[in-house]
Amino acid sequence: MTQLSGKHILLIIGGGIAAYKALELVRLIRKADGSVDAILTRAGAEFVTPMSVTALTGAQVRTDLFDLGEEAEMGHIEASRAADLVVVAPATADLMAKLAGGLANDLASTTLLAADKPVLMAPAMNVAMWHHPATVRNLGILIADGVSFVGPGEGEMACGEFGPGRLAEPEEIFGAIIEALLPTPKPLAGARALVTSGPTHEPIDPVRYFANRSSGKQGHAIAAALAAAGAETYLVTGPVALADPPGVAVTHVQTARDMLAAVSASAKVDVAVFAAAVADWRTPDEADQKIKKGGKAKAGPPKIDLVENPDILAVVSSLSEDRPGLVIGFAAETENIISHAKAKRKRKGCDWMVANDVSPETGIMGGDRTRVHLITEAQAETWPEGTKTEIAARLVARIALALGGES
Ligand code: CTP
Repeated sequence: MTQLSGKHILLIIGGGIAAYKALELVRLIRKADGSVDAILTRAGAEFVTPMSVTALTGAQVRTDLFDLGEEAEMGHIEASRAADLVVVAPATADLMAKLAGGLANDLASTTLLAADKPVLMAPAMNVAMWHHPATVRNLGILIADGVSFVGPGEGEMACGEFGPGRLAEPEEIFGAIIEALLPTPKPLAGARALVTSGPTHEPIDPVRYFANRSSGKQGHAIAAALAAAGAETYLVTGPVALADPPGVAVTHVQTARDMLAAVSASAKVDVAVFAAAVADWRTPDEADQKIKKGGKAKAGPPKIDLVENPDILAVVSSLSEDRPGLVIGFAAETENIISHAKAKRKRKGCDWMVANDVSPETGIMGGDRTRVHLITEAQAETWPEGTKTEIAARLVARIALALGGES
């Protein structure tokens, strides 16, 4: 393998249980004929030794300890000058915060601030730290500043908690390095995409609402995959416990009517994917004050009238002007999946329907894995089961094929 022949990577190894994976990354880079210079932060040195990093890179590791010899040569500035790419793995919440805030108080942060090369970060941290508003804010700043990201992955963490925050696998970081240094043409570059995701909340009174079990995982994964494929991507999401996908313009809404308004206000797009589990009904009599047991409902539980919500997918599918070239709906069914989804595709006027079985025993609604059928005018295909991220990638590959020439 000589993919990285002549390429030089400056690797900054932050502190974290996953720092050992950085050693495997060095091995992969060198195997591909790339060279590596490493900086080990003080915290990083608690997890891997300078000796092992030096042995694997074949070059003296730089540490955060003040080194007169290096500083005399302006080591921190030179380090990035000689590199084609700066990779931070693991990128701790602290390193992200430092770069987002422009801090330069140790070798790693000084080098990052002085860098004149693209920066790729592979974050790793506890799930609560990843979801903390400060980290979410810093991620947004860094993306806007042009830093690229790989991961974090989701799964059980060293701290025993579960969720996003795991360092991406070395192979995945290696793939992102190749992508950063030798970008392949993106299949949806120049295309615009809109995605709806999550449930909607339909208020009954100031404290109660109707909702459903949608987590937004599938819609968010599709938005992320569209953005990764180069599409300018807009996401309109109901209330979810997920971070905004990187590189996507996100509008947060509560109700079906808000979602329709945000979709209608969005730019003209080439493809629209309606993955949201929009509430079918709302009450027309939303109470201004909390409904009390002894109040209006004195004679027993309140009777709540329902009216139908606008069908966003049907509205967009029937647009005569500015209809997206490809409109894709999702059909959540619990029986006769394919026949119901075929009928739904026709009724709503969309081009494709992605059908899935949301019976509780499938664990699909809210879960990480899914099994879908793609229904087009011509046929119904059953796809193999996979993670929602895998299904999103497959759907986006099909979208790219369908948009063909324009993308
Ligand atoms: N949808 C929508 N607006 C609504 C209801 C649904 O945009 N008010 C979209 C969903 O985002 C999805 C598709 O329509 O892409 C199908 O949603 P689904 O809940 O499966 O179908 P319903 O229209 O609710 O039909 P039913 O409840 O009869 O299955």
